[in-house]
Amino acid sequence: MRRAVFPGSFDPLTNGHLDIIRRSAPLFDEMIVAVLNNLEKHPMFSVEERCAMIREVLPTVDTSDCKMFVESFSGLTAEFAKSRKAGAIVRGIRAVSDYEYELRMALMNRRLEPEIETVFLMAGEEYSYVSSTLMKQVFELGGRVAGLIPELVEERMRAKNSE
Ligand code: PNS
Repeated sequence: MRRAVFPGSFDPLTNGHLDIIRRSAPLFDEMIVAVLNNLEKHPMFSVEERCAMIREVLPTVDTSDCKMFVESFSGLTAEFAKSRKAGAIVRGIRAVSDYEYELRMALMNRRLEPEIETVFLMAGEEYSYVSSTLMKQVFELGGRVAGLIPELVEERMRAKNSE
């Protein structure tokens, strides 16, 4: 049984995240999309809202035969992965600029849990500049984000803005 954890803030889910899920799913039997409940940050969406959106959008993605789960977590990713008996942590790399941060994180996670490997996947080049932060910024300033985030996420962002 090959089980992986795909951790992130997912505030909000982007098509870049979905691209990494689609690419990594065939490598595993089970994957847990793990949504960080970061109490220090002020996210646009609550952790429950982020999990709900991922659950709603996941069926639109070809995840091969990989069984998908969505869970929130607090604390260390490595500890969460161990608690779920995952053998791998999946992360996407968009550009060279991601590499340094991701390398530091992967090495720290390996130090914490030597049995768990980080598996890096290269995002499709069409998503190489897509980040949740940029999507929120562009959306809030009235720019077009269609094609870069799922339609459902865009709808929820619109609803959030008019709250
Ligand atoms: O989507 P993001 O914000 O790039 O994801 C970052 C995330 C959630 C993977 C990272 O911040 C994380 O693992 N946080 C949990 C705390 C932790 O384990 N920190 C040590 C990592 S070296």
